[in-house]
Amino acid sequence: MTDKRRRAAVIGHPVAHSKSPVIHGHWLEKYGLDGEYGRVDIAPETLARDFRKIFDRMDNNAAKGEGLCGVNVTVPHKQAVMGLLDFVDDTARAIGAVNTVYKDAQGRLCGTNTDAFGYMENLKAHVPDFEPVHAAVHVLGAGGAARAVIYGLVKAGVRDIRIANRDRSRAEALIADLRLHGLAHAVDWDLRDPDGDVTLVVNTTSLGMKGQPELEIDIKNLDFSAIVSDIVYVPLQTKLLQTAQEQGLRTVTGIGMLVQQARPAFEAFFGMMPEIDGALERKLLDQA
Ligand code: ATR
Repeated sequence: MTDKRRRAAVIGHPVAHSKSPVIHGHWLEKYGLDGEYGRVDIAPETLARDFRKIFDRMDNNAAKGEGLCGVNVTVPHKQAVMGLLDFVDDTARAIGAVNTVYKDAQGRLCGTNTDAFGYMENLKAHVPDFEPVHAAVHVLGAGGAARAVIYGLVKAGVRDIRIANRDRSRAEALIADLRLHGLAHAVDWDLRDPDGDVTLVVNTTSLGMKGQPELEIDIKNLDFSAIVSDIVYVPLQTKLLQTAQEQGLRTVTGIGMLVQQARPAFEAFFGMMPEIDGALERKLLDQA
């Protein structure tokens, strides 16, 4: 008998910390779908040899059934996996990393990146009146997360981005790679306090996360209409967000991005776009 149950997983090394099984498992149960979502640990040395095999049909005595129909990709494989795919879309190419791989109708392995979608959807959900075209955005950080956030903002129409990173050359490389000359400018880390005309601040660094140093920044110049967002979600209310709230500013926490980035992946794997709900966010925060 052929087992047609759809199976997906997150691959990484280590992979035990990944929240993806909680998110996809929640939606599989909520929508009553006949699917599975697991974890696959692949060491960097064996990625090239083993990666494509997990999508192959298993037909031996130990295991029978379809291979995986897709995977989420986490640390440290987000870049390495790009060279092992049949197709990588423009979004993933621009961001320079793949976080979702799915098999298309022709059986080709396709890579995309849903983090930009995740950040923008979360921002829209919490600040529906945010106007990208008139925004002046101050981004802290220039790593992989910053690339995704900035890509999403520029696609939405933002024309003024300032990027403050400890290592300034990484901010400059990001601007060059995403071809943002004229739209984005690097700022010295010592000058990381946002100017008074900034309408959105985004922390994409790991600063402020549990176990990491605090993000030391002065945001008192911000106008009362400014929005402050953090992609860190442990703790949910980072010091940056607390300070912003004390100043009466609107804030956007990081948990929504985590959930939103998983929605298009779930659709690619299981065929339906899930809706976000508070119960899932609470489940994730309880386990954090
Ligand atoms: P991610 O993919 O999550 O963005 P990353 O590429 O390792 O991860 O980027 C981490 C970001 O946090 C970078 O912007 C990093 O700054 P550098 O590029 O200068 O390393 C920033 N970061 C981490 N620890 C920091 C610290 N102690 N002070 C300032 N910035 C820090």
